Amino acid sequence: MTQQRTVVVTGGNRGIGRAIAEEFVALGHRVAVTARSGGGPEGTLTVRAEMTDAASIDAAFAEIEAALGPVEVVVANAGITRDTLLLRMSEEDFTDVVDTNLGGAFRVVKRASKGMLKARFGRVVLISSVVGLYGSAGQINYSASKSALVGFARSLTRELGARGITANVVAPGFIETDMTAALPEEQQAEYKRAIPAARYGSAAEVAKAVTWLASDDAAYISGAVIPVDGGLGMGH
Ligand SMILES: NC(=O)c1ccc[n+]([C@@H]2O[C@H](COP(=O)([O-])OP(=O)(O)OC[C@H]3O[C@@H](n4cnc5c(N)ncnc54)[C@H](OP(=O)(O)O)[C@@H]3O)[C@@H](O)[C@H]2O)c1
Repeated sequence: MTQQRTVVVTGGNRGIGRAIAEEFVALGHRVAVTARSGGGPEGTLTVRAEMTDAASIDAAFAEIEAALGPVEVVVANAGITRDTLLLRMSEEDFTDVVDTNLGGAFRVVKRASKGMLKARFGRVVLISSVVGLYGSAGQINYSASKSALVGFARSLTRELGARGITANVVAPGFIETDMTAALPEEQQAEYKRAIPAARYGSAAEVAKAVTWLASDDAAYISGAVIPVDGGLGMGH
């Protein structure tokens, strides 16, 4: 049986992050979520954190460590989109997305790695997207931020792999959340036609892959990209 761990999920108040937090709670772990608004699911500790601000992340981790002990598992899930075609994409559209999705992961993992190095144990899971390696018109900012997480996890694996720390990427396809509900209906139908499984995934299906990567059973898996996409991204 997997040991009970202290887990942090960023953006755990809704969508995929909330489902990931629920799954960790169901498995008996000590779970904290970061949120800018609202709270995490029942059984979690909610702390405020802004992904673009290292000081706010540091304060959130200090609060979590005081309440639940050293952080052993971190899931960098918080993310945003600002979709538009390249010629219309502003500097702000680009930097906001990269600073939240990639910069946020950097700040959170950097802060979490201190305790993991001391404990000589850690599980880092970065939530990317099928779009990271598949590409998507109108998502140059988002796709670039998500594919960068692969280089991030692989470099981290080379830096910290000998200290009992693994770093992996989960790449969801189209999942039923606020993010995909915001897409125009026609676009949603077009995406569904392209997915071999012929349906969107659920946040719970992503959560199962994440908790498995964080488990003792996955100790020898690092630098991997695990797709949860109904076959959409095959070969990418
Ligand atoms: N939905 C999909 O189909 C899909 C597919 C592939 C990958 N993903 C990825 O999965 C992750 C979760 O997606 P989702 O669909 O669950 O998204 P969502 O429902 O839009 O939730 C996004 C989460 O990120 C948080 N967040 C955003 N910007 C933040 C910031 N600057 N500081 C702190 N927290 C911030 C949000 O907090 P607030 O509530 O406070 O705004 C919220 O908790 C994202 O990284 C996304 O790119 C999603």
